[in-house]
Amino acid sequence: MPPIYLDYNATTPIDPPVVESMLPYLREHFGNPSSAHAYGKAAHEAVEKARRQVAALIGAQPDEIVFTGGGSEASNQAIKGTCLRRPRSFFARLFGGRSPDAVHIITTAVEHPATLEPVAFLGRLGASVTILPVDWFGSVDPDDVKRAIVPRTRLVTIMHSNNEVGTLMPIREIAAICRESGILVHTDCAQSLGKVHVNVTELGVDLLTIAGHKLYAPKGVGALFVRRGVQLEPLIHGAGHESGRRAGTENVPYLVGLGTAAEIARESLPAATEKLKRLRDRLHEALKVALGDRIILNGHPEKRLPNTLNVNFVGHIGSEFLMKVPEIAASTGSA
Ligand SMILES: Cc1ncc(COP(=O)(O)O)c(C=O)c1O
Repeated sequence: MPPIYLDYNATTPIDPPVVESMLPYLREHFGNPSSAHAYGKAAHEAVEKARRQVAALIGAQPDEIVFTGGGSEASNQAIKGTCLRRPRSFFARLFGGRSPDAVHIITTAVEHPATLEPVAFLGRLGASVTILPVDWFGSVDPDDVKRAIVPRTRLVTIMHSNNEVGTLMPIREIAAICRESGILVHTDCAQSLGKVHVNVTELGVDLLTIAGHKLYAPKGVGALFVRRGVQLEPLIHGAGHESGRRAGTENVPYLVGLGTAAEIARESLPAATEKLKRLRDRLHEALKVALGDRIILNGHPEKRLPNTLNVNFVGHIGSEFLMKVPEIAASTGSA
């Protein structure tokens, strides 16, 4: 018997229908989507279908989807692309050292490294950075965001849900605050898609990260939602792929897989949310019955991803505890 897999926030298996949808693009439809002949057209149409499928999952328009090589690239593109957009007023000055009007970025202490590291990089170039704390449940207070805003704040980047404890952040409230001041909002949605309802209009965000391998698509493929009108400096300069926003011949089979996974995720909601929640709570109840107050829940009791259960086993070190039960494939935190 293989170990029971309980580590879906680290990665998901590829859904069999996703694999099936990819296979023709690994075999016969090998064309370059930029080629004008029939081979190119077949590939181009497949990429554009995938774009529509991904857009539909988050209530976006297809032209607001930029495909990337995963969630990390999407967040890097959002964060660096926003801040490096106006080299004259921003970048050049940064090389002159820290300046009082250097761009300001707000984030939280519990972001994934795919957010914290590009923010730290911009900090090293001279941007000023505010890293907000979170409360006991792992949530940021929108009032803290409001208080942190200064006239030169360019970007607020806060995750939609936390990958370790599952807490859902008050993104809608934060985006409403930022909109009043004309500040761009990026949210890393890698863990939320397919688990809870996500709609970019309802959230009011400008940029949103999608990671394929948290969604039953392969690793190494993702997307960034870029609201119409938001201008980003590309991370990868080159030919005009992705409407000039990300150069490089498209990874057609993987994009097809991402599109299929997005469509399946959209169709499975909202039932998936309830099913996951039931399973999660059943496991939690069983642990409580067995261990009583020797287990402590981490993260928000309600405002939490339906698939995420993070607990302390009192008196035990998580990693040592898990090593004693190789039949269970779980994690103590981010992979
Ligand atoms: C919250 C979050 N953001 C970003 C990423 C990075 O995505 P990727 O592994 O596709 O680069 C992950 C997963 O590792 C994640 O959990």
